[in-house]
This record gives sequence, C-alpha cells and structure tokens, in this order.
Amino acid sequence: MNVSDKLFDINWDFTKRFPGLSRSPHWYPGTFPSEVPAALIEILTVKGDLVVDPYGGIGTTVFEAVRLGRDAVSVDVNPAAHRISSIMLHVLKWRSQVVLITAKMQDVITDDQAFLTSGQLGDPVELLENSFIQPSLKSIIGSINTEDPNWESLSKWYHPDTLNAIKDFYLKKVRHSEDSDFTRVVRFLILSASLKALSSQDKSWGHIADNVYPKELVKKDLMPMLKMFAKKLDSLIDAIIFDSTSQSRKMYSIEHNWLDGGIVLDRKVNAIITSPPYAGAIDYHLSQKLTLYLMGRSEDAIKGLSMVEIGARRRRNRLNSEEIWAEQLKSCFTIFANLVEVDGFIAAIMPHKDSGRSSGTSSIQDALLSQNFFEIFKIDRSISQTQARQSWTSIKRETVMVFQKHGN
Ligand SMILES: C[S@@+](CC[C@H](N)C(=O)[O-])C[C@H]1O[C@@H](n2cnc3c(N)ncnc32)[C@H](O)[C@@H]1O
Repeated sequence: MNVSDKLFDINWDFTKRFPGLSRSPHWYPGTFPSEVPAALIEILTVKGDLVVDPYGGIGTTVFEAVRLGRDAVSVDVNPAAHRISSIMLHVLKWRSQVVLITAKMQDVITDDQAFLTSGQLGDPVELLENSFIQPSLKSIIGSINTEDPNWESLSKWYHPDTLNAIKDFYLKKVRHSEDSDFTRVVRFLILSASLKALSSQDKSWGHIADNVYPKELVKKDLMPMLKMFAKKLDSLIDAIIFDSTSQSRKMYSIEHNWLDGGIVLDRKVNAIITSPPYAGAIDYHLSQKLTLYLMGRSEDAIKGLSMVEIGARRRRNRLNSEEIWAEQLKSCFTIFANLVEVDGFIAAIMPHKDSGRSSGTSSIQDALLSQNFFEIFKIDRSISQTQARQSWTSIKRETVMVFQKHGN
C-alpha cells in the first residue's frame, strides 16, 4: 500500500483507546488522543526519523514519536506546556531504559530515597545525564530554583490550610530540597497536575481561565491528592509499550513563539504533525494559570503571554479575529514548510468547515501549495465525546490533512 492508501485505511474516529500508547497525567485543554499522532507517525515516518510538533502542547506527539523510536521536537509558546513536556520526556526516557522498576512515582512524594533505594536502578539522574534530552534535568532545576511562586494570586483559589500545605511541599520538597533532580522534577509535575483538583474551583478549567473565583474556599488534603496523581502516573507509564530503539532517541522541548520567527534545527524534519490552536476556542495560558503562578508568573506576565497566543478565545469578539488567526497560521506554516526535507510531510488537524473556521484551513493550504507541497490526504473525524478535547466549544468534528513536499 502507498502512503495515502494506508492513511485511508485508518478509522480516524478512534472511539476506543489503543493499549500501549503514552498518556499524560497532566490536564491541558485541546490535547488530541495519542492514537492520532501515533497513526500518522507510523505511516509517514520510519524509525530514526525526526518528527516535530510546532504547537506541541504537553507533548502528545513527541511522546508517541519517542515511544515509536523517532527523534522528536516539541515547540510551544506556553511555559507551562514546555515545563510539563520537558519533565514527561525525562520520565519516559527513564521508563524506556529500565525493564524492571521497583521504585514508584507514588513513593517519590514522601520517600526522599525512593529511587536511590530501588536496587538495580541507581539514581535516575546518572541514567539520564547523557541521554540527549533538552532541556536537561539540571536546566529544569535551574529554572525552578529561580522562580518565586506567585502565592498571592494562588491564594484566591485555595483554602488557607491547603495553600500552606502546597507551600510547604513546594518549598521543602521541590525548591530547596537536597533530593535528586529527578525526584524534584517529578514532584513538580505531580504538584502541577494536582493544582486544579486541589483548588476550590474544580468545576472546569474554563472557570479558572475566566477568573470565576470559588464562592467558598474548601479545605482539601494535599497528600492524598498528590498520591492519587502519582499513582495515575505510575499506571500510565507502566502501560506504555516502547519500541526497542526508543532509548537512543533524541528529544527536545523548546519554548518558542512562532510569531517571533523560525528556529534552527540541526537536521531536516521528516514529518511535522500538529494540531494548531483553533480560532476563538481555548485560552491555553489562562487555563494553566495555576501552574504559571507556581512558576512565578505575575498576572501581567500571563496576560502578555495570552496576547501572543494564536487564536486565543479571549480575543474572539475583536474585529477580524478570525482573519488575524488565519494570517498567523499562514506565516507559521510558511516557516514550517522550510524545515521539512524533500518528500517529507506536514500533517495538520484542523476544525471541520462546519464550525465556520475554514479560513484557517485555506491559509494553510495556500502557504503549503505555494512551497512545493501537495495535499495527499484529507478526511473528517468525529471528536469522541468520551475523549472530548473541546467539550466546552461547539466543535464536534475536525479534519486531518496531510501534505507532502516535492523536489523543485
Ligand atoms: C491544540 S494545542 C496543542 C495540543 C497538543 N496537540 C497536545 O496534545 O498536547 C495548540 C497549542 O498551540 C500553542 N500556541 C498558540 N500560539 C502559539 C504561538 N504563537 N507559538 C507557539 N505555540 C503557540 C498553544 O500554547 C497550545 O499549546
């Protein structure tokens, strides 16, 4: 079968979850089910190829790329998405390198020596030191060490006792801890993943994004919540089936705003696989404000970030907001086109035309067709309501498009 036959052979609705795929324990809006990038990676690339997701979010595409033995780069402007994907890449790398794991993420929460006493493992820091992951553990810890959480903004969302417990855990177990860098970043990840559930506004992230403060501050116990998320992380990573070549793959998470221009990569890209932000659908930065406060961001800094967020929901009523979104996508895809090698691919998951956002799709087509790309595949998929990624918008269908670059 040729590439487009293979693409047409897939049922893109993915109503059932496939076993063995990677999943993130962290909440983030608009993530696609791992099945979508997994299918595209398997059909469009071979082991050792380079896969890039320029709107990488919390890393769904790159986790699948690495799991399947490809090198991977995730780019996103959101510092929270960058931090989460950076830490998860280390967790996946560690998990792909050791067959028998006795240490559990659950133990890391309370036991400072959890990894060190796990017998055959040794300290994961050593294991991860020379393992081609950017940013390195040292650099993530370096950033954490310079961040002073914005406790004042956080205090509006938590009962004072809960906030004190969060502060205590953060300061003693993440920020000033003597424990290994791996233990500390895993704790950061689990704390960040628990922040919404620990808050008194736990209806939806839409309420947090829109500053709907809780009417009443409800006390929630920190430790059981952290243990629950750590347990979830354990069961998610235990279920992943890695390709035998995953261990030697290179992985990068890059924080970058495409509206500032391109990035330089050390090799040409075999496939770009991405789900761009949809016009007026989601506020990615605002949805992650609890994590961004933990990362020391002020209200103004978060506002500034959401100003450069393509398609942000908070700007949906501005004049020409959809046109601006389409233009921005066009300039981004012009940059992406140059990163791809001849015969390589760009796959984009876009809102279905019925949702009234077809200008974005036309912009991407214009950008790519004028740069030697040809559309080789286009299909509509339903967004399963059990795995809904856009449940607070009216978007129920989307379109998978694949383009291939031809020589001159
Ligand atoms: C649909 S989400 C991607 C989610 C991802 N597929 C996942 O599963 O995690 C779109 C992403 O585009 C990012 N984004 C928006 N504007 C951007 C910009 N100017 N530069 C880089 N990334 C941007 C958002 O932060 C968001 O994470």
